[in-house]
Amino acid sequence: MNMNRLHKVTIHHRQTGRTMILEVPEGEYILRNFESHGEELPFSCRNGCCTACAVRVLSGEIDQTDGIGLSQEMRDKGYALLCIGKAISSLEVETQDEDEVYEMQFGKQLGQIKGSPASPFDI
Ligand code: FES
Repeated sequence: MNMNRLHKVTIHHRQTGRTMILEVPEGEYILRNFESHGEELPFSCRNGCCTACAVRVLSGEIDQTDGIGLSQEMRDKGYALLCIGKAISSLEVETQDEDEVYEMQFGKQLGQIKGSPASPFDI
């Protein structure tokens, strides 16, 4: 791994309509690098467990072998986590819909119970 190599990372933040572009050094976590430049992106746990920072990869490759991360199935579908993700080529991603990846990773029912006003846990 060459730490001096830079990769152009483009993030489309669909909820705000903003597109952010930075040159991220290889080996650096993408979320942290964007934050250090004052860019605000969704996150929660910061260690690859919650899926709050998940994005859809539109083009390019991302190394997300750190942390527990997404299931292989989710990675195969083209999703990635920015908090533990490192660019290994030019990369273009877009933010997910709210809870989109959470529901796929942890199960639809769990996602529905979590947000449902009629949850059995409320009784
Ligand atoms: S912030 Fe939780 S998985 Fe990235």
